[in-house]
Amino acid sequence: MERDAFLKDLLSRMTLEEKAGQLNLLTGTMDATGMKDSADLEEKIRTGHCGAVFNVFTPAATRALQEVAMASRLAVPLIFGYDVIHGHRTIFPIPLGLSCSWNLALIQRCAQAAAAEAAADGLHWVYSPMVDISQDPRWGRVAEGSGEDPWLGAEIARAMVHGYQGENLAAPDAVLACVKHFALYGAPQGGRDYHTVDMSRRAMVETYFPPYQAAIEAGARTVMTSFNEIDGIPASGNRWLLTELLREQWGFRGWIVTDYTAVSEMKNHGTAGSDAEAAQQALEAGVDMDMVSECFIAALPSLVKSGVIAEALLDAAVLRVLATKWDLGLFQAPFARCDEARARAVNGCEAHRDLAREAGREAVVLLKNDGLLPLSQSTKVAVLGPLAASGRDMLGCWIAAGVGGISALEGIREVAEVTEDWQAAEVLILVLGEDWEMHGEAASRTSIRLPKEQRKLARELLETGKPIVLVTLSGRPLDLSWEVQKFPAMLHAWALGSEGGRALADVIFGIAAPVGKLTMGFPRNVGQVPMTYREKPGGRPFDATQKYTSKYLDVENDALFPFGYGLTYGTLQHGTVWLDRPRMAAGESLTLFAELENEQEIPITETVQWYLRDLVATVSRPVKELRGYQRVTLQAQERRVISFKIQDADLSFPGRDLQPRIEDGEFEAMVGPNSRDVQVVRFWRVSLEN
Ligand code: NOJ
Repeated sequence: MERDAFLKDLLSRMTLEEKAGQLNLLTGTMDATGMKDSADLEEKIRTGHCGAVFNVFTPAATRALQEVAMASRLAVPLIFGYDVIHGHRTIFPIPLGLSCSWNLALIQRCAQAAAAEAAADGLHWVYSPMVDISQDPRWGRVAEGSGEDPWLGAEIARAMVHGYQGENLAAPDAVLACVKHFALYGAPQGGRDYHTVDMSRRAMVETYFPPYQAAIEAGARTVMTSFNEIDGIPASGNRWLLTELLREQWGFRGWIVTDYTAVSEMKNHGTAGSDAEAAQQALEAGVDMDMVSECFIAALPSLVKSGVIAEALLDAAVLRVLATKWDLGLFQAPFARCDEARARAVNGCEAHRDLAREAGREAVVLLKNDGLLPLSQSTKVAVLGPLAASGRDMLGCWIAAGVGGISALEGIREVAEVTEDWQAAEVLILVLGEDWEMHGEAASRTSIRLPKEQRKLARELLETGKPIVLVTLSGRPLDLSWEVQKFPAMLHAWALGSEGGRALADVIFGIAAPVGKLTMGFPRNVGQVPMTYREKPGGRPFDATQKYTSKYLDVENDALFPFGYGLTYGTLQHGTVWLDRPRMAAGESLTLFAELENEQEIPITETVQWYLRDLVATVSRPVKELRGYQRVTLQAQERRVISFKIQDADLSFPGRDLQPRIEDGEFEAMVGPNSRDVQVVRFWRVSLEN
């Protein structure tokens, strides 16, 4: 009540310009993340024409602007936001890489650490998690998401929201999460960033919406709109999307911010003739805050005065923003996060560096190993390739205020003897891939092979006959079809963050075994994309004996390295899979058992996955869908039976009306070390009434 009374009183004292000012998000100049700068920032803050700022951080810089805000007529404090995507000062693996850990607790701890560092640097709001599902590695922003699978994407979205926001927003280490990009930004045509999206409602509901919805259910306080259109209407002006779906159906109570200049971009989409029209469409659709375009501040006061927009609509948006400022404790303590001593203690602290190393290790995916790995620390190695000595490329795209980064060479040098003369080396470690500018925003590619000059270098080194470990860095799945035929060992290392080189060295030399499992399949070539393991069967599924079935003439249908794939040191034997009963009634559960055996003399860790297929339903269902997983470690010579519960909820799918539905019938449950190499058992669901 105290809050409501305070906010009501504050609102009653605001002019229309001050109200629109609370909805005006402007950029500072400590980073540049879009095409337009915000002019006269301080003046706009002083006059109450700006309610939040991003691209400004550090206790001193945020304090300076907060002082201006506190000297404005109504002394409404500012919120400071920033693109803290995979860490703030300490950088963790790029999100796509970190998702390959399948380790939700670790992912949550990384988000927590990022929140603590951001908050210590004066920030209240991070533009993360990015939960856009994508099946298209041409799109550079796959680096920022968690891959192709909606079920796993939803789990990760929840973990990240909890990690950022914690229990209490006013705590000194909590920040507001911002779920983005709502919606469908991961499906641009041709994989080209900012391009049109055109999608069926079913694909939205089945594949693209679950992570956004999970993040909302986890309590995410803000949502960012996407740049693209949805059914012909830009997301930022789409009332169905923002109001009917997000607020009314999903119960979202926080505030909606647009992406960078997305309100004025509605003119480019051709759905608004002027900035004023765009502002009206956006506010009426449900947008609360305008990022950088300044259409709201320019147009909303006069639109209300002339009666075109109801003042109540403006008030509702303003109240959402003010209420969050209250919850952050900003009205009581506007300078609480401007604490130099805390920033020094928290940012880049040892605990966060250790966490970055742990996360880096878990993000590495072992793609191939004919026995060369792990190397012994006494092996003489040479570390080669254009990315070998680059700390910056180890950090990847979107590094917020992160600096430095341990390169592969630096990390390896700490644990092994590195030969300067490659001819004297016993094993070559070749680090190739994408530099940091080749993935992320505005970094789409039509080729997903290694750059040409890198392949030339690879060929030359292969000719020497030395054993070579290929390490690839990238922000997207790559086409490694040629490399897999040539190299005896391949590690995919994404961009592993601040401690990347050390984490990589840990894996190469067996200080830690690789545990990463791909969350996005690596295609055989770019002609297959977009692709997913969750494909529909179609009417003519591939049959090698039949010409007229679904296939390519030049490559197999499936991925080179499928979703869920990743090797480790040693191989776990996957034995029999069975169910406790062949039938389940409505509301009951079944137990799925899988036998595992470690016949080797070292402990082996594996993430065992289970997938479901609904064989006959009222709508066609994917050939398999991830429904659960467990990470297990078997000691040398250990045999173990693990189990998964199969429940009604696992069988639920959007029916013909797109509402959740569970149907009786026959199902397949599949268990394996990845989405391809599974063992299958069948069961029936039979309602008691039948
Ligand atoms: C544009 C990007 O799409 C978005 O992810 C980011 O948060 C904003 N710019 C702000 O920098």
